[in-house]
Amino acid sequence: MATKQKTLTDAFYESLKDVYYAEKQSVRALTKSAKAAKANELKQVFEEHRDESTRQVERLEQVFEIIGKPARAKTCEAMQGIMHEMQEDLEDFSDTPAADAVLIGCAQAAEHYEIARYGMLKTWAGQLGHADAAKLLDETLQEEKRADQKLTDVAEAAANSQAGQGETEQDPGEEKEEEKDDKEANAKLQSEGGAKAGSKSKPKGK
Ligand SMILES: [Fe+2]
Repeated sequence: MATKQKTLTDAFYESLKDVYYAEKQSVRALTKSAKAAKANELKQVFEEHRDESTRQVERLEQVFEIIGKPARAKTCEAMQGIMHEMQEDLEDFSDTPAADAVLIGCAQAAEHYEIARYGMLKTWAGQLGHADAAKLLDETLQEEKRADQKLTDVAEAAANSQAGQGETEQDPGEEKEEEKDDKEANAKLQSEGGAKAGSKSKPKGK
């Protein structure tokens, strides 16, 4: 009968444990991504953010200390799902020209999850009167946003240089042929993808 009602303090601690787990997973994923990345610039972004993430784990431990609770990790199923997809993508795309783009996409999925969580935790820390914790969480939040932006920059630079190459290779007068080729390429990709990873969703569209 007299079950104690949970409060924002409880929600804060539970979410902190969740992010602690996610951040540790993130360090492992970034180590893997740095090894797998083909472009040196991307490798460097992953390595830098891995080091940053190691410090973010320590920062979370400081937050646990501030609120006077033991630093414990609780399985974060969202991050596990993102890591699972990353593993699949590594298997499917590591030997393809899309490898780096796919790695960036996985890393950004993880970053966006972290950004959402750190933003929430920072707000809650403020509401609960833990100004020092809010400051630490904001430092991490800003780092995550910068890392996300760097990944976008690398992705866009790569896309632009590929588009440049594409223009020189294409015959400018044959748009219809090009469309037809795209359809054939899509069909081929789908059948290859289907054979290799039957459970994966296929790209939508034409
Ligand atoms: Fe992080």
